[in-house]
Amino acid sequence: AIDISNLRDQTGYVTLDKGYKNTGATQSAITFLDGEEGILRYRGYSIEDLADKASFLEVAYLLIYGDLPTQQQYAEFEDSIRRHTMVNEDMRKIFEGFPNNAHPMGVLSSLVSALSAFYPDSYDDKAPDQTQMHIIRLLAKLPTIATWSFKKSQGHPVNYPKNQLDYCSNFLHMMFALPVEDYQIDPVVSRALNKLLILHADHEQNCSTSTVRLVGSSRANIYSSISAGINALWGPLHGGANQEVIEMLEEIKANGGDVAKYVDMAKNAKTTGFRLFGFGHRVYKNFDPRARIIKKAADDVLSKLGVNDPVLEIAKGLEEAALHDEYFVSRKLYPNVDFYSGIIYRALGIPTNMFTVMFAIGRLPGWIAQFVEMRAQKEPIGRPRQIYTGPTLREFKAIGDR
Ligand code: ACO
Repeated sequence: AIDISNLRDQTGYVTLDKGYKNTGATQSAITFLDGEEGILRYRGYSIEDLADKASFLEVAYLLIYGDLPTQQQYAEFEDSIRRHTMVNEDMRKIFEGFPNNAHPMGVLSSLVSALSAFYPDSYDDKAPDQTQMHIIRLLAKLPTIATWSFKKSQGHPVNYPKNQLDYCSNFLHMMFALPVEDYQIDPVVSRALNKLLILHADHEQNCSTSTVRLVGSSRANIYSSISAGINALWGPLHGGANQEVIEMLEEIKANGGDVAKYVDMAKNAKTTGFRLFGFGHRVYKNFDPRARIIKKAADDVLSKLGVNDPVLEIAKGLEEAALHDEYFVSRKLYPNVDFYSGIIYRALGIPTNMFTVMFAIGRLPGWIAQFVEMRAQKEPIGRPRQIYTGPTLREFKAIGDR
């Protein structure tokens, strides 16, 4: 029997579900996931097929418009994105004001929010044609903005997009090309990036996506809603975990590689406050299908690039130890998507504090699709209830009498 006596507020009974562990906030036709069986599908297509055979922009189109594009639809979609990769030069002035060591996630969310000021027609929530343009702009400009903060942290000039390149290659060009030397895009790197972005592209009602839908439910514009999602993603329990994972693996390596010690610390998470980052998931309770694909990709990419990263061995050691430990087994804690992604990003030359930005670039089509669906379904403003636990009526005393 459940004691519901404490679920009463002034107006009646309220369902209390902290963290919304069992509360459906919407009906959605975008992403199917079965946490028990480890199944993930976008619009009915398996993540394994998409990660293996599709391009990131094909997947973006699928998520946003519901079907895989024909060749002509794809060409038009890609072309319109190419035409909007430039960012207003006045945005650069805002950007210049950030300190060199600003975290790129803070820069990204601020600049995405600032985009709304450059496209004030986004405030009109009754203009679907314009929303279409904002979708293209967001997809086109996010990589450009993302690379700015990396360039700044390096003290290098920013690179303008090269629109003859595909989406992933253009990103790599803006990140890594220097005016003083030739930069050749390695197809292994570009393909690995394509796969990682697809794996992150949507994940139904996770924290950042729910944030986008909730903010958008007030009819706030798409830039502000996506900016809020970027901020939600930044947290270490969500997308920020990929940065934490690499920092944790580095720390284990620096302290002599004693994996068992860290497993023990995590088993006492309640007292030590230490969690194994990259382990556990709210929904996947047997395995995270994305983690399986990424683990294999990490092996492939590292061997193709000839990179020998000692933290990969530590990561495998942790996974192995946790797989056999009663604490992790009984709580169904398995490596999640973020556990191996950082190792690949590192091999691709992407610095640690950019990992969550990479996640944001990948998740953007999902956020957009969920925003569009929420609006199309004319969902009401999101507004959870509460159980008030503060004092009842208190007598006010003027400040002179306190
Ligand atoms: N290390 C050690 N113990 C853990 C971990 C972990 N990584 N994750 C969960 N636990 C333990 C909890 O202490 C708790 O133990 P208890 O039953 O003794 O109280 C139990 O497992 C359940 O944990 P909750 O926090 O209640 O599970 P929840 O579903 O709320 O949290 C989450 C899921 C946030 C992902 C959690 O597993 C976590 O903090 N993992 C580490 C951070 C991480 O990798 N986040 C990325 C998630 S994937 C993504 O966002 C793309």
